[in-house]
Amino acid sequence: MASADLLDTLTPMIVPAILPWIAPVQSGMQAVEARLRQAAADEHILLTAVIDGLLRAGGKRVRPALCLLSAGSFDADFENAVVVAAGIELLHTATLVHDDLIDGASMRRSAPTLNSTWDPDAAVLAGDYLFSRAANLVLQAGDLKVMELFVRTLMVVLNGEIAQRFSRWQIDRKEYYQRIYAKTAAMFVLAMQAPAILAQAESELLEAIVEYGHDVGMAFQIVDDVLDISGSIEQVGKPIGSDLRQGLFTLPAIIYAEANPDDADLLVVLNERDGNHPAIERLIEKVRRAGAVEAAMEEARRLAAQGQSALARLPDSVYVSGMFALAETVVKRQG
Ligand code: IPE
Ligand code: IPE
Ligand code: MG
Ligand code: MG
Repeated sequence: MASADLLDTLTPMIVPAILPWIAPVQSGMQAVEARLRQAAADEHILLTAVIDGLLRAGGKRVRPALCLLSAGSFDADFENAVVVAAGIELLHTATLVHDDLIDGASMRRSAPTLNSTWDPDAAVLAGDYLFSRAANLVLQAGDLKVMELFVRTLMVVLNGEIAQRFSRWQIDRKEYYQRIYAKTAAMFVLAMQAPAILAQAESELLEAIVEYGHDVGMAFQIVDDVLDISGSIEQVGKPIGSDLRQGLFTLPAIIYAEANPDDADLLVVLNERDGNHPAIERLIEKVRRAGAVEAAMEEARRLAAQGQSALARLPDSVYVSGMFALAETVVKRQG
């Protein structure tokens, strides 16, 4: 498949964001795409159709691309890296299906969510099935240590989602950092670390790649949280302002609240705990204007730069350059 054909399989909205770093892993990404679409022989026709729809809607494919960049830099076995990368993308997709159901979200990747088109039972089961299919893919790499890391990461992610569910209407920076590590950075670490384990990389190199995954993952989630405040639905493909409406205080809102603890709208929001209260819209507008967004972006840029500096401990290669460029795009993305 030519690069233009590969890019055609992803939504046009996200293509500009991935161009600078996709080149070194282009053929691997085609193989990942093929594995993602390979249905199990006895799969229910509806399940196949639903998964196909989810994958066709696009997504940036950041995690599998990272996984393949890591595999390239450590010279891990190509076939094994491809199944692990595909498994991680399916794990990510499963978490999104459940996340949208929990959040009552109507749109994802510019398309209606499963929970809004199907019923909740079907969305739960489709998510569960995706978790299982993801594990089955990773299993095919035949490495117990990688499988163990995958399972532990899944536990961290789900534990984080539970923690998030019970941390609504709280303004707590430390809890925020734990939460974004669990729900996002842990999966980025998995994507970077798994190929290093496959290739039996030396411990110093493994540590460097884990640090990079952690820092870029944290930066990625902070940018996602910023876009939920300051982005547009056309660019991000999902509704804006949904975090605060669900009582989730993300970094820009935390920064604003710390600087303006007596803000009248903030106090109403914390008292009422009502996602539909008009004070929420006013608060979002204030967070947007007060420089809190810029301060959160500054933190994302600091983390991305820290991740880039960890790469200096790895031998130079086109793959490492790709990782360097990806860290850059993560903090420049608009969607
Ligand atoms: C969305 O992840 C959930 C977060 C962790 C922010 P992505 O922004 O990678 O979602 P897709 O796969 O591109 O849709
Ligand atoms: C979702 O993070 C991460 C997981 C489901 C693990 P978000 O809740 O920030 O993702 P969006 O904003 O809905 O895409
Ligand atoms: Mg969500
Ligand atoms: Mg979000």
